[in-house]
Amino acid sequence: MTVPDMPADAAFQDHGDGTRHLRRPGESFLRWQGRRLTNTRTFASLDHESETSQMKRVLTVWDLSAMGIGAIIGTGIFVLTGIVAHEKAGPAVVISFVIASIVAGLAALSYAEMACLVPIAGSAYTYTYATCGELMAWIIGWDLILEYLVGAATVSVGFSHYLGAFFEDAFGYTANPKLMEAPFSYVKDTFATTQTWFSVPSFVIVLLLTAILCRGVKSSARVNNVLVVVKVVVILVFIFGAASSVDKKNFDPFVPPATETFGHFGPSGVLRGATVVFFAFIGFDAISTAAQEARNPQRDLPIGIGFSLVFCTILYLATSVVMLGVVNYKDIAGDNISDAPFKVVTAKTNQKWLSIFCEVGILAGLVSVMLVLLLGQPRIFFSMAVDGLFPQFATKLHPKYKTPVITTALSGFLVATAGGLLPVSLLADLTSVGTLFAFFLVHCSVLILRWREPHRERRFKVPLGPVLPILGALTCVGLIAVDSVSAIIRLIIWLAIGLVVYFAYGRRHSRLNNPEKYATPDHMTVVNEGQSNHANVEIKQGEQQLYGAQPGQEHKV
Ligand code: ALA
Repeated sequence: MTVPDMPADAAFQDHGDGTRHLRRPGESFLRWQGRRLTNTRTFASLDHESETSQMKRVLTVWDLSAMGIGAIIGTGIFVLTGIVAHEKAGPAVVISFVIASIVAGLAALSYAEMACLVPIAGSAYTYTYATCGELMAWIIGWDLILEYLVGAATVSVGFSHYLGAFFEDAFGYTANPKLMEAPFSYVKDTFATTQTWFSVPSFVIVLLLTAILCRGVKSSARVNNVLVVVKVVVILVFIFGAASSVDKKNFDPFVPPATETFGHFGPSGVLRGATVVFFAFIGFDAISTAAQEARNPQRDLPIGIGFSLVFCTILYLATSVVMLGVVNYKDIAGDNISDAPFKVVTAKTNQKWLSIFCEVGILAGLVSVMLVLLLGQPRIFFSMAVDGLFPQFATKLHPKYKTPVITTALSGFLVATAGGLLPVSLLADLTSVGTLFAFFLVHCSVLILRWREPHRERRFKVPLGPVLPILGALTCVGLIAVDSVSAIIRLIIWLAIGLVVYFAYGRRHSRLNNPEKYATPDHMTVVNEGQSNHANVEIKQGEQQLYGAQPGQEHKV
């Protein structure tokens, strides 16, 4: 539809007229379509969405920090440390952790700046919508599925393994392996069937957590707080309990020489190790998806992000030093995920109680990671649905608990099924590379907004001007570049599928680009709270303000 009597450019920049999606006089078709794909959400609309959010603002700075710690400490430290030390970096896995923490730390700074500028549940998805436009926002929203859904499914597989190990150690009971493992394996880019049926523990734990999450964000935060205390206590007991068994000889050689297989040991092995243990830092950004449920998001989100990351980094460094000091890197990883590496280390200390105690902490740790990741994903789907890029049924909040109940149930079902059916090796790599891509775009968003909105108040600003966001973006690209080629190819395939979905659905339903679908076909008229006269579209007061018309005001299209 062209609009012949449209005013000058300035009007198109204005969020208030609901016409930015329309073709300008004399504009070529391609340019018009390109402009639609790069249309951005305006700050006025984002501020309004934050102010009128129906979600309950109940989360304190402690809840947010505990959510960060809950999501961060999990499979990465409990499982991957041993594998990386054994296969890639030797005792220098500690350096891999330092490198990964720098990448995560720089990302945390950018997240903190964005989270106080755009305190909306969509996290990186919303930041990108405000800076790079709709198409990039969709891509990042789709990409975040890898971090949250695939990440949670990965951890649920680890949970099943550790639960089996715990039953064996604590009660001498061996669960039926057919009910503990996925029916497929994925080795060297090839699927194979196993003799097992389904990972029942993965499936059941995810559904249980989903039920808790539907019940309310505050009660979920309480459960998470308890789990976090348990796992932090266990890690501290592990560090102090095992420290006396550290043998300095195990640190020699600190960086074992490179083997014939490229990438194992040597400095490049340490770098490759960093891409793997980066998984251990994933999750602090999930705090930003709770922006609309935080009491004081602009103050508390940056604090929560910073505190949880610094705290976990210190724990990680201490834990990895103790692990590699107690057990030689050659012996630290077992063949089975549940053998690695806490179990190997505690077995070496000859303290059976320490093994069982650690397994309880690990299980608590894995549950809290799943809980927070399962909390994050529905809120991103929710934000995407509010923007029209996801079906409208997903915008419903539970009438009493005010949680995004439909997207929570949907996310839970998808994760439970994936965790029950798919092998961990397929899932884990995708999570890291997908998250690095998201972090890259958040750094870009900071830089773009510094340039586009230089005077907007920032309660937290990344220091040293553009230097750190640029460095952060480069470190993300660097880690992606050293990741395995197959992981990068899988990311590209996943994003390509996302583009098909966007053009088949999102583009046609986006509110920003199709406001007429969300108002009367001939007049975008909104009369305060209530029903519009367009079939079945409920428009709440202010909702149209987000994308165009003012309540009670007429806007001819
Ligand atoms: N950081 C989380 C973990 O290590 C995802 O399990």
